[in-house]
Amino acid sequence: YVLGVDVGTEGTKVIVIDQKGDIVQKAYRSYAFETPQSGWTEQDPDIWWQAFVACLQELWRQGIQPSEVAGIGVAGQMHSSVLLNRQGQVIRKAILWNDVRTKNICEQTLQSIGASRYQGETCNSLLPGFTLGKLLWIKEQEPEIFQQIDKVLMPKDFINFKLTNLYSADVSDASGTGVFDVRNRTWNKGLIGELDLPMHWFPDVYESGEIAGEVAPEAAEITGLPAGTAVIAGTADNAGAAVGMGIVTKERGLVSIGTSGVVLACLDTPPTYEEAIRQNPTLHVFCHGVPNMWYGMGVTLSAGASLRWFRDSLGHGDSYDALMMQAGTVDAGSNGLLYLPFLNGERTPYNSDKIRAGFLGMNLQHQGAHFARSVIEGVSYSLRDCLELIRLLPNQVQEFVVTGGVAKSELWLQVLCDVLATSLRTVGYAEGAAYGAGILAGVAQGFWGAVGEVFQEDFLKRSFAPSEQSRHYQEGFEQYKRLIQALLHVHD
Ligand code: XUL
Repeated sequence: YVLGVDVGTEGTKVIVIDQKGDIVQKAYRSYAFETPQSGWTEQDPDIWWQAFVACLQELWRQGIQPSEVAGIGVAGQMHSSVLLNRQGQVIRKAILWNDVRTKNICEQTLQSIGASRYQGETCNSLLPGFTLGKLLWIKEQEPEIFQQIDKVLMPKDFINFKLTNLYSADVSDASGTGVFDVRNRTWNKGLIGELDLPMHWFPDVYESGEIAGEVAPEAAEITGLPAGTAVIAGTADNAGAAVGMGIVTKERGLVSIGTSGVVLACLDTPPTYEEAIRQNPTLHVFCHGVPNMWYGMGVTLSAGASLRWFRDSLGHGDSYDALMMQAGTVDAGSNGLLYLPFLNGERTPYNSDKIRAGFLGMNLQHQGAHFARSVIEGVSYSLRDCLELIRLLPNQVQEFVVTGGVAKSELWLQVLCDVLATSLRTVGYAEGAAYGAGILAGVAQGFWGAVGEVFQEDFLKRSFAPSEQSRHYQEGFEQYKRLIQALLHVHD
């Protein structure tokens, strides 16, 4: 077996994959993130480790033999800052990828470095979610913490560190730090020096599928894993999900709804300096989890997070299934009710730390079901905004494969398909990122010669094509964009 792990924002998942590529067992532990202020989000890295260990214990109870685990691959939420001191201890809660507090410092930094030059060099703008802004914010606001920093890790690197006692990074997650040379798949030493950050903060960087260490004796004792088990460098969750769904060629794209929402398409060359300068600043271009591949991506911050918030606040404690059932009882367009999914500001394409969510257009006829439907419609519109940017990339995406909570709801899949006005495919499993990380660990163990070998012809399951509702949603999308422009005027 190999284990595939996904350290998410709302929970950690561990799956067990056999040599045929089948998922034979899985375990999941959920947790929440903290919101100390509007627009801020934090999490104690220790809860990821605790959840990971609890998942392993559950797997052992379910009869998986630890001695049969040949390798481990961990994927995780991107950008969130795990800061360790010289003793390897966590010195501050991680500031998460969906935290927008660093907007001002990001803008100032872009001004002083030169926004075009930064974008040309790193293939990205400096967005508030990226790790660099968090480091600069801490330097300014919490200098006593800043002074103690000895290592900067991504969430999955932290799990790897706890497992192996070694510091490592991988190209896909390092891409989201804001100080990575995405084009050459290495740290941008010049930029790190110019920003006056110590180079030793940033660990050795590997390709995602390379073995970065092995389970150390202390970790073996805590986890029950055999000491010496191979641990690969692992991936960013979105790269992992793409690998796990066979999206390693230019023809296929990914639409993912986890806490965030993502539209992603592969690139077989990174943009040149000139091309990168011309990109929309909210497009992300990152290294993929397989060598010599990159991807372009748009990210909306509160996708699944919107539905979770709705369930927990206005949803009377109903399950997601019950909410989807209600949503299915009203027509497309929710009788004019529109949800804007900006609970924590927005990244692609508005890059606003100030905009917030809203229900607009309420009338006396509206019932709970309209609200539930408008949430999935509003989140779908925000993904359409991401798709518009992905369409500008020099690739030929023929179809998009869907993963995440959306794939469990027939209704939401059709709404998403109609709003995106493009055909969608589903796969037979929902464990995209964990599966991708597990496959990379399997390739490292020689289970398969390459990532592509795992996918059989029939791994793609159902197809969705836009229905006659799609036209209605095109008008809805135009209105959504107009309302956002008005809101941005008020807020920014
Ligand atoms: C990607 C991003 C999110 C997180 C979610 O840039 O911020 O998709 O990776 O875990």
